Amino acid sequence: MVGAWLEGRTALVTGAAVRLGRAIALALAERGANVIVHYRSSREEAEAACAELAALGARAWPLQADLASPDQAADLIPRAAELAGPVQVLVNSASIFGPSTLADMTLDQVSANLTVNAWAPLALMRALAAQEIDEGRIVNLLDTRVQGLDLDHAAYILSKHALLQLTRMAAAELAPRITVNAVAPGLILPPPGEDEGYLDALAGSLPLQRHGSAEDVADAVAYLLQAGFVTGQVIFVDGGRHVREE
Ligand SMILES: NC(=O)c1ccc[n+]([C@@H]2O[C@H](COP(=O)([O-])OP(=O)(O)OC[C@H]3O[C@@H](n4cnc5c(N)ncnc54)[C@H](OP(=O)(O)O)[C@@H]3O)[C@@H](O)[C@H]2O)c1
Repeated sequence: MVGAWLEGRTALVTGAAVRLGRAIALALAERGANVIVHYRSSREEAEAACAELAALGARAWPLQADLASPDQAADLIPRAAELAGPVQVLVNSASIFGPSTLADMTLDQVSANLTVNAWAPLALMRALAAQEIDEGRIVNLLDTRVQGLDLDHAAYILSKHALLQLTRMAAAELAPRITVNAVAPGLILPPPGEDEGYLDALAGSLPLQRHGSAEDVADAVAYLLQAGFVTGQVIFVDGGRHVREE
């Protein structure tokens, strides 16, 4: 049955107050999971998301942490487990994003991107595995641009390449108890400050000639969390961008 594995499980979704993280939290609740809605600064949105999940019949808890702090990242699963019991499902969606090039990026930029986008997901994966659970499932959010080099967002894409390799390494190391997969979104939501017109202008360059929705990404995450025989896999939800001829 679709969603059966998620029924009654406890899930932690990072960056779940807004945008893709929120859509993922909703998709998990719709499939019967209880959800810890992690946020950094979007407290009101996290509380609103929890109310929305509760209306679906799920239990939901907002939980704050700054994942730029390795200590807070390491503590997040133990704190979540105190609130909600052992965490069997982890979705690493929180991320920072910004422009930088090989020529101008600073060590601080590289370090900030690696800390939030790769180290924190690793700390969370480790902490999930350290619990006494029989089974666990993890999905990491990458970016379709891991297929290439994205020289305009060098520090960011470097961190997503690191997360791709961490996904594969963790899939190998945490098997058979825990599966680890990834979703690589493409043109889904406009970056802050841009609107739907931004997406429409770029959609024509994709093989499928349109942009995707947050629900497209959430459905892929939910599939991987239900798929017990799939690990180390990446699903590109990108309208075919990763096979586009440049
Ligand atoms: N949107 C897209 O079209 C797209 C495309 C490709 C890849 N992706 C990937 O998909 C994932 C979700 O995308 P999105 O656009 O929804 O992400 P987003 O809006 O850029 O960020 C999601 C959340 O991450 C949290 N965050 C940022 N820095 C943090 C920190 N230091 N500590 C804790 N939380 C922090 C923020 O939470 P607060 O608001 O609470 O501060 C933010 O709301 C990301 O991993 C992104 O790289 C998205």
